[in-house]
Amino acid sequence: MKNLTRRAFVGSMTGFGATTALPAFGQGPTSGAILKKAIPSTGEQIPAIGLGTWITFNVGNDERLRAARAQVMQTFFDRGGSLIDSSPMYGSSEAVIGYGLARIKNKATLFSAGKVWIVLKTLGVNQMEASRNYWGIERFDLMQVHNLLDWSTHIETLKEMKAQGRVRYIGITTSQGWRHGGLEQIMRTQPIDFVAFSYNVIDREVEERLLPLAAERGIAVIVNRPFQEGVLIERMMHHPLPHGQARSIARTGRSSS
Ligand SMILES: NC(=O)c1ccc[n+]([C@@H]2O[C@H](COP(=O)([O-])OP(=O)(O)OC[C@H]3O[C@@H](n4cnc5c(N)ncnc54)[C@H](OP(=O)(O)O)[C@@H]3O)[C@@H](O)[C@H]2O)c1
Repeated sequence: MKNLTRRAFVGSMTGFGATTALPAFGQGPTSGAILKKAIPSTGEQIPAIGLGTWITFNVGNDERLRAARAQVMQTFFDRGGSLIDSSPMYGSSEAVIGYGLARIKNKATLFSAGKVWIVLKTLGVNQMEASRNYWGIERFDLMQVHNLLDWSTHIETLKEMKAQGRVRYIGITTSQGWRHGGLEQIMRTQPIDFVAFSYNVIDREVEERLLPLAAERGIAVIVNRPFQEGVLIERMMHHPLPHGQARSIARTGRSSS
């Protein structure tokens, strides 16, 4: 038991690696409305929690590992999930998403969020087309410039694609506090629908300028690294929960904060 990881425990509880809406202490899944947020530029509502695919979906051609990811996606959709995020930077993740989408049911709510991560216009166009084929979708709901790479080139392509109805929303991403100054400038001057950056209980720099600016400009925010890639969990795992919290978890299976 000493070396049992959270992931292994979750797998043994459910038969697969899904972490979404886990049954608590052997009870059935919790019911209730899913928290949704409106995309400011249209008012369209999507669930607040999405599915990221960095590392976790980069499993190559291994059939068993691919099938396990497809099962995670199925559970995600069955429990009301919608947004899946990926990038050409994430190895085989896009192909693994496509494998899952081709096999699962009940995926009509998919909100596909891809990224362009390359320099030069032609290469960007080709990369986005390759991503669309990997996913096996007609068009992306959201296409983002990954980590601001050659953003001034790609933003023009994305604006054209949006005007032609080939993508519904456009955005820009960064993480770990990189290039916030540049991101702020883009948010002030470009007609983007989404912005993505890191935000968690330790990394709160975005509260000063970027979050208020997003609210002011009507830009939707995607938060990445909410647990600092798991570091926050590791730092806290040996600390006992405050008394009230522990009682709350025992009763509902989830923290109240
Ligand atoms: N520049 C960008 O555009 C950018 C940058 C970073 C991330 N992203 C996107 O954001 C997604 C999420 O980022 P991230 O992976 O850094 O997220 P994260 O949530 O900060 O880190 C995930 C880690 O947290 C652990 N974890 C999650 N929920 C937990 C729980 N309830 N209890 C214990 N441990 C838990 C996971 O553990 P296990 O390993 O045990 O599952 C995993 O190691 C990525 O997949 C990607 O799609 C985009």
